[in-house]
Amino acid sequence: MTDTTKQDRVLIFDTTLRDGEQSPGATMSHEEKLEIAEMLDDMGVDIIEAGFPIASQGDFEAVKEIAVRSKNSVICGLSRANKTDIDRCWEAVSHAGKPRIHTFIGTSPLHRAIPNLTMDQMADLIHETVTHARNLCDNVQWSAMDATRTEHDYLCRVVEIAIKAGATTINIPDTVGYTAPRESAELIRMLIDRVPGAEDVVFSTHCHNDLGMATANSLAAVEAGARQVECTINGLGERAGNAALEEVVMALKVRNDIMPYETGIDTRRIMNISRRVSQVSGFPIQFNKAIVGKNAFAHESGIHQDGMLKNAETFEIMRPEHIGLAASSLPLGKHSGRAALKDKLKNLGYEVGDNQLKDMFVRFKALADRKKEVYDDDIIALMTDASGDRVNERIKLKALRVVCGTEGPQSAEMTCEIDGKEVSVETTGDGPVDAAFNAVKSLFPTKARLELYQVSAVTEGTDAQATVSVRLAEDGRISTGQSADTDTVVASVKAYITALNRLQVRMTKSTPEVRYTDAS
Ligand code: KIV
Ligand code: ZN
Repeated sequence: MTDTTKQDRVLIFDTTLRDGEQSPGATMSHEEKLEIAEMLDDMGVDIIEAGFPIASQGDFEAVKEIAVRSKNSVICGLSRANKTDIDRCWEAVSHAGKPRIHTFIGTSPLHRAIPNLTMDQMADLIHETVTHARNLCDNVQWSAMDATRTEHDYLCRVVEIAIKAGATTINIPDTVGYTAPRESAELIRMLIDRVPGAEDVVFSTHCHNDLGMATANSLAAVEAGARQVECTINGLGERAGNAALEEVVMALKVRNDIMPYETGIDTRRIMNISRRVSQVSGFPIQFNKAIVGKNAFAHESGIHQDGMLKNAETFEIMRPEHIGLAASSLPLGKHSGRAALKDKLKNLGYEVGDNQLKDMFVRFKALADRKKEVYDDDIIALMTDASGDRVNERIKLKALRVVCGTEGPQSAEMTCEIDGKEVSVETTGDGPVDAAFNAVKSLFPTKARLELYQVSAVTEGTDAQATVSVRLAEDGRISTGQSADTDTVVASVKAYITALNRLQVRMTKSTPEVRYTDAS
């Protein structure tokens, strides 16, 4: 049995770029993936799951480039249980200083039924594929997908086979977020106790959040002997997402008294990467999200504020600076110069080059003309707005005027550049946003369905910027767009157009998507 008192280092395996990106609508561009991978590497993530190389040429290129650029982290790629997948994965990850092949198969009765394999046939396939992976790479992770719904005897049998075939990490996913903390711990303990060779491998936990227990389940698994936690930034991931890296890491840090395990994460980098992942994925962070939510360190009530002023520990179990949240600084205004903006961006964690600073300064000045005080959150929103994928813009908004008020119908006059040609239209709708969206649709006819339209104010006051998130769907493809502006209708149209541009890229992707539930 594992001696947990000696093994106090927990490896952090981040799968934002694989399981996170698999989340409908969270698709990131090649450049965005490279940027996130660099941030993960810099913050001390032990293993980065960079993608699923066989899924598409784009995924392959991204994993390969991340491998080439990697500094300290192990770079891992996902592959199903077949040699073609594994070879393609190796082709991509072998460029890393520290490569890892991750191969998996669904072991529960429901998942065995999909490829229609008997228990024996699946056991043979696991032996064959893990052996093949191990012949290519000496760092091999094997996952029993849907492990938490797999018969214990069979799980022990296949884990033993994978270990004998050369797997160095055994991952026990709670694929559908079904388990509960006590059960999660018992499962890991049972495997460590029963499987011969268990002491020679690292057990890993991979929890989904369908019942809101992903972090608790991961920590319970660690207490039972798991020494790798799989997680994503902001808990991004399929359905309700994966265990959130920031929650797992901060829980281990703040409650080190009862969970004496270390990670290699520089927690001061959490806030920046959280914001960046939210921006590039188009998934806003809920205000009351643990650790990184806008309200996580806000103390509204009088009693709380009074206590905080006397002693921060009254209501705060961790300091905002531990996650890289700088104490609110003075707002900028229309007289602030380029150096002040650069300094502010740096304090907020954005390293911008000369061109980006120039572009941001123009945007900042335009905002400062409309808004007396420009707060940190305004600058973050401006960066969100500036981070759109400009390369793939088929549609560009040139001008918009809307008429709204009690006397309908509301109308919009719009000029856009579409594929380099300027076109204009005038439309009506049920409210100014509807009229403006109708204008976009009439200039660029689309079958895309609006699945989500969400507006939130960045700061207080009637001159606050609005951040708008839009999600569109067409033929099973989903895309998201985010934008910010003091004019809510302008922010809405820009978010809609960003999502539409991204959808065009997704629709023209030549390789059909491969879902990971296909075992072979
Ligand atoms: O949730 C899951 O089972 C997975 C596997 C592919 C590891 O993501
Ligand atoms: Zn998963």
